[in-house]
Amino acid sequence: METSTPTLTSLETRATSGSGTRGSAEEIFRATRARELALSRLLMAYITTGLLFMLFPGTLLGVWNLLQISGRESAGLISPAWLQAHGHAQVFGWIGSFLLGIGFYSIPKLRGEATQAVRAAWVCWALWTAGVAVRWSSTVYLWHWRVLLALASILELAAFLIFFRVISQHRPQDSGKSKLEPWVWAVLTATLGFFAVVITNVAGSFYVALYGDSPAFPHRFDQRYLALMGWGFLAPFVWGFSAKWLRVFLGLKTLRSGVLIGALAVNCTGVVLAITGQVALATWIFVASAALAIAAIRIFERSEQPAKTKGVHASFPAFVRMAYGWLLVAALLGLGASIWDTSGGIWGASRHALTVGFISVMVLSIGQRILPAFAGMRLLWSTKLMFAGLLLLNVGCTLRVSSEVLAYQGYAAWAWSVLPGSALLELAALTTFAVNILGTFVLEPSHVSNQPVVVGIPELLAQGTRR
Ligand code: HEM
Repeated sequence: METSTPTLTSLETRATSGSGTRGSAEEIFRATRARELALSRLLMAYITTGLLFMLFPGTLLGVWNLLQISGRESAGLISPAWLQAHGHAQVFGWIGSFLLGIGFYSIPKLRGEATQAVRAAWVCWALWTAGVAVRWSSTVYLWHWRVLLALASILELAAFLIFFRVISQHRPQDSGKSKLEPWVWAVLTATLGFFAVVITNVAGSFYVALYGDSPAFPHRFDQRYLALMGWGFLAPFVWGFSAKWLRVFLGLKTLRSGVLIGALAVNCTGVVLAITGQVALATWIFVASAALAIAAIRIFERSEQPAKTKGVHASFPAFVRMAYGWLLVAALLGLGASIWDTSGGIWGASRHALTVGFISVMVLSIGQRILPAFAGMRLLWSTKLMFAGLLLLNVGCTLRVSSEVLAYQGYAAWAWSVLPGSALLELAALTTFAVNILGTFVLEPSHVSNQPVVVGIPELLAQGTRR
């Protein structure tokens, strides 16, 4: 159990301050523990913020939008600003907060002597949270939206630049490796994609603040921005994390490094084509990059070792594989959309196969596997809730993606009546996930004090699987 509250200044000790004096073993232990608790607290702040953005501004607004669309049997009659406010809260508010928090937590430099870096991480959190909250409320309530939209985008950019500065100070030698591993290339590419998304958001926000008659980005701009977001940022991040962790968690065969680098190169080409307006060609390329990433990670090949499912539900490997199935569905629907879409329904289905099917299913699977350990060596509150959330999300997403194509395209009128139910299932799934993570933070005891020295993330994860 936690017994004392570490302060930022207590992170620096004689053992680590560079004063040249070595502290006693007990001092080093105390400093390590204080650092670990402070980092866990930082991570929990990012994760809790992400969950709140996901639940209320993100998912509730998404459900509301879909209920409106189903009621009117048309997506065209709904405020584009509200649709975009939902997308922004999910991608920046939820996924962005999670990635920033996990990014800060994982940088070995923060585990060393850099008290300042921890402080910077808190400033980043405050700016990011304020930026996303101001963006959402100004888009939805339209109160001084021209000024606030532009301001929000600057706050988000400032937060991202702080993050970028801290991570760019991290060198390969910090991790003891002389050369960048392929998974690092994927995460770096995704980080640059994230940067490009944040910059594009600033450009779009200033444009509509100056010339627009609503806070919504113009349709053509938004479509390209969404391609950058989905394929330039979100997908390569998950490929990077998968390349790093899935071999350990699922016992997969060795990563095909060259194929992963190929997937990243092909994917970058697709992103460039999409943002320069060659969307139809880009969709073919995304099918190829998704297939290459799958071949590289070997997710559908027979595992070499048994999966590590202690502490999580035994179905965890199956859901991770399902997520990669959704990645393929998303890429193929994108291709189909470029040929047949007349209503936005196939594009919408492709987008949610990617964001809900691939990204969210991965976050619910891997998140519940790693976050309890990162948050002060806790155990996941409930493995049953984990299973329930993942099952509901997959069922909801299947109904949503299939009915969206059938309803929006006018292929089957009955599909309109399925959409509200699909939204409620997805809402139930994401709420279950949030409850399980918050239950873990609040109700599960921290075991940091029982660890003599916390050496790094692999050790944390190995220790976090005792149940
Ligand atoms: C309960 C779950 C969700 C519901 C009911 C929902 C609903 C919607 C609806 C109705 C739209 C408008 C376009 C369309 O009709 O397809 C939309 C767009 C979007 N959604 Fe969701 N969504 C959900 C979850 C998510 C999640 C988890 C993410 C991301 C992680 C996400 C990201 C987006 C994005 C980026 C857009 C495009 C916004 C734009 O046009 O700029 N959604 N969503």
